[in-house]
Amino acid sequence: MKSTNTLYKRFAIAGIGLFIIIVLFSTGCVESKKIAMKSGVQLWAENCQRCHNAPSPGSFSASQWETIGMHMQSRALLTENEKNKIVAFLQSSGR
Ligand code: HEC
Repeated sequence: MKSTNTLYKRFAIAGIGLFIIIVLFSTGCVESKKIAMKSGVQLWAENCQRCHNAPSPGSFSASQWETIGMHMQSRALLTENEKNKIVAFLQSSGR
């Protein structure tokens, strides 16, 4: 009977481990949804002044913002979605 007992214990430990992993992953998803809900202006205010003054929307033209967006996406480590939102905000409020 001793060997079956340790087998049950192993299953119980594996189950608890799996449960913890699932909880960690599901809260992780909630967090990233919060980030995904951020608007372009919010992302611009939070990210674009980390290294220099955040450039105002009027500083560049719509096509210049495309190029700047690509360049600063890699500098600021933004996702494609975040970059698109920031560029859309800068273009819509700029010249
Ligand atoms: C990790 C630091 C960092 C972050 C965050 C960052 N930048 Fe920059 N940015 C730089 C550096 C360094 C330069 C100058 C050198 C270069 O062009 O790579 C620069 C240059 C610029 C320039 C050119 C300035 C000029 O007058 O020619 C613009 C415009 C700009 N960034 C916009 C942005 C926007 C918009 C964001 C937010 C999405 C952003 N940056 C986030 C580092 C950063």
